[in-house]
Amino acid sequence: MTDKVRVAVLLSGRGSNLEALAEYKRIADPAYEIVLVGSNVPEARGLVLARRFGLPTWAESHKDMDRAEFDESVDKQMRSHQVEVIALAGYMRLLSADFVRAWEGRILNIHPSLLPLYKGLDTHRRALLAGDEYAGCSVHVVTEELDDGPVLAQARVRIEPRDDPETLAARVLEAEHQLYPRTLDDFCRALRLARDSSVGAPGG
Ligand code: GAR
Repeated sequence: MTDKVRVAVLLSGRGSNLEALAEYKRIADPAYEIVLVGSNVPEARGLVLARRFGLPTWAESHKDMDRAEFDESVDKQMRSHQVEVIALAGYMRLLSADFVRAWEGRILNIHPSLLPLYKGLDTHRRALLAGDEYAGCSVHVVTEELDDGPVLAQARVRIEPRDDPETLAARVLEAEHQLYPRTLDDFCRALRLARDSSVGAPGG
């Protein structure tokens, strides 16, 4: 079995999912290691947390740059850190089609709804307005369409009669913190197995 899969986490804000991903190694021996935390928001709280965990960080504001130019810069960072998998964790910026194609099948995202329901923003309010019995979160592979790629795992959270968007968001967030590390771990474990078996294969 070779090394851990090298993961970069991209975020734009609070960073509670980053925290869950980084802390997972206290309770498990994950197949991933976080080698870079990047952000399009240099003042993001998630970067402060990353530094507290001793993780390398990179940030650059996307303002004054077009999408392609910014994503080229992200891509350069990924390559210079030999990143194998990118985990979006509250990264609130659309990725360019070129970037997604270059990293096809190797970008994961966590989204606070039971996809395919409620792509985009304001997911909890929309679930409440629809009178749904359950809300939840999904980890999916990123494709060019927003919040549309294959779903790898979901967690359901029952909606209580007194819920408002904030109380519901708080419970879904707890579910995210359980779901994302496990799913990223499983994904990286499978990738590592594939990598190891191709290394051992004739001509590999
Ligand atoms: C999380 O709820 C995540 O699911 C959501 O942003 C929040 C980030 O929180 N992501 C999206 O809405 C992406 N479409 P965090 O910064 O505390 O991890």
